[in-house]
Amino acid sequence: MSRDPIVARHLPALRETLNAFRAANESVALVPTMGALHEGHLGLVREARRRCKRVTVSIFVNPTQFAPHEDFDSYPRTWDTDLAKLAAEDTDLIWNPGVKTMYPDGFASRIVTDGPAIVDLEDRFRPHFFGGVATVVGKLFIQCRPDVAVFGEKDYQQLRVVTQMARDLDLGVEVVGLATVRESDGLAMSSRNVYLSQEERATAPVLHRTMQDTATALRAGAEIAATLATGAARITAAGFALDYFEARHAETLQPIASLQDGPVRLLVAAKIGTTRLIDNISV
Ligand code: PAJ
Repeated sequence: MSRDPIVARHLPALRETLNAFRAANESVALVPTMGALHEGHLGLVREARRRCKRVTVSIFVNPTQFAPHEDFDSYPRTWDTDLAKLAAEDTDLIWNPGVKTMYPDGFASRIVTDGPAIVDLEDRFRPHFFGGVATVVGKLFIQCRPDVAVFGEKDYQQLRVVTQMARDLDLGVEVVGLATVRESDGLAMSSRNVYLSQEERATAPVLHRTMQDTATALRAGAEIAATLATGAARITAAGFALDYFEARHAETLQPIASLQDGPVRLLVAAKIGTTRLIDNISV
């Protein structure tokens, strides 16, 4: 039988619940999300449940990681179904602060990230993004003091940035990355997939298929630049506006000259219509 999770919207309520867990010597896992939960998010919640006695899920659409022209206002917000899904996963605590709780008037501090946050991938197209993510995730880690935090490989650069930040700032949390959960045709699950028209949705799996074929060719010894160029042309021909399609070192995210410089990760970002999709796989 699933229980209703405790919902905290203010810091005193959050602290009261977490202090009770700590007093009972119970380990705590945190799964940070922006809501609009799908099977990808729920996979993270299940991993959190496997690793710790108590599972906290944060739901906060973080304004500081959206640029003014991006989709903060229209980002899907589906509280009732999110709550039902988290109750069914036996979530103990939902941390659902308001914007003024996270960013009170006069808020003036920020976590600045280097290394994997400045490698000319997402940072090139969303220059404000990792400053916003690092600051909010840093705050969530400090507020919740989890033993473990679970993130998806779907947002691969974000996973690398958060892992680095937790290590650099001695935040005492083990950051765990989980494989991307996909639709049956390969499209990576994403809260933003609801923006896709029927026709765009039918085209979208080209990203994953192209990455798979590119990885297969690279493993068979094909030349990197030419193989990526072929893949990029296929993505563009399918109707995407391509931001990047790159092969990088899986940990540092630095460019690689050969597979021997690896482990190698393929990363792609492209817009179809007005929706921007990102994805990645290992080679
Ligand atoms: P959001 O996009 O809601 O994603 C929350 C977590 O779910 C992230 O760790 C993301 O990588 C993971 N996730 C999303 N789709 C997934 C999929 N198909 N398979 C596996 N994991 C998936 O990422 C954010 O929110 C925000 O930037 C956040 C970290 C919460 C900071 O605001």
